Amino acid sequence: CSSDGEAPCARLAGEPTFRPRAHASHKGSFGDVAILGGDQGMTGAAVLAATAALHGGAGRVFLALLDPRPPSLIEPWPELMLRRPEQLALEHLTIVCGCGGGDAIRTHLARVLAQAPRLVLDADALNAIADDAALGTLLTQRSQHRLATVMTPHPLEAARLLGLSTAVDVQADRLAAAASLARRFQATVVLKGSGTVVASPNEVPTINLTGNARLATGGTGDVLAGMIGAALASGLPALQAAQGEVWRHGAIADAWPHDKPLTAGALAAT
Ligand code: APR
Ligand code: MG
Repeated sequence: CSSDGEAPCARLAGEPTFRPRAHASHKGSFGDVAILGGDQGMTGAAVLAATAALHGGAGRVFLALLDPRPPSLIEPWPELMLRRPEQLALEHLTIVCGCGGGDAIRTHLARVLAQAPRLVLDADALNAIADDAALGTLLTQRSQHRLATVMTPHPLEAARLLGLSTAVDVQADRLAAAASLARRFQATVVLKGSGTVVASPNEVPTINLTGNARLATGGTGDVLAGMIGAALASGLPALQAAQGEVWRHGAIADAWPHDKPLTAGALAAT
């Protein structure tokens, strides 16, 4: 088994190590996360990512909604700080970009790709990159500047990024698809679905063993993006943050009581 992407090989992901908090730490020790997304009718996706980042241990969480007149969805979470997208000091933040972003996310992507030191790209941010080669180039250049990037496509989003017409082509060889995206964009790639694959350039991909079909409910991907954002903000490298949070996201679903429905909101708050 080698990491050159030629052979279809992988490792099984192991349980991540517990991250202890130093006694004399303060909120600045755990980093600031900003969620940029949530256009009209999809603000819930960004709120889910934000609450997941909060429960994932981020020091502070900012929520920058694209919807100029959002419903008052964030009242139950006084810990979240609302900002307008253009107010974010991108160069100081871990950005989770694209959850419920719609087309409006496209206005902000070039700036985010160029400036954010730690970045999670999900959903409509990935669709925008698939449609715009210039954004793809900016993404690829991030690794040269040692900026950390995690992409979290589901199979259809991965297909668009690879220029394939359907998710079936991705599902036929998930390892190859994830490794190919990681190589092309020089980023850590989380190819979601049963047996989530995590791939990074020049690394052997891992297959995650936690999780189950109860995660097949709207918004659980947004929760994962927020969790990875919190792990990146705490200072973990992209690959370690992605593998650890994919494992934890699935493990929460595996431990969920059988007589209680799993919702994305409850998953975020666990
Ligand atoms: N087994 C294990 N894990 C699963 C299973 C399963 N059978 N089904 C789903 N999951 C997990 C995936 O691995 C992933 O972590 O649930 C999550 C689903 O993520 P998404 O597919 O992104 O779904 P969602 O959060 O609802 O997406 C919201 O964003 O991606 C866009 O267009 C999409 O409108 C949608 C929105
Ligand atoms: Mg999604």
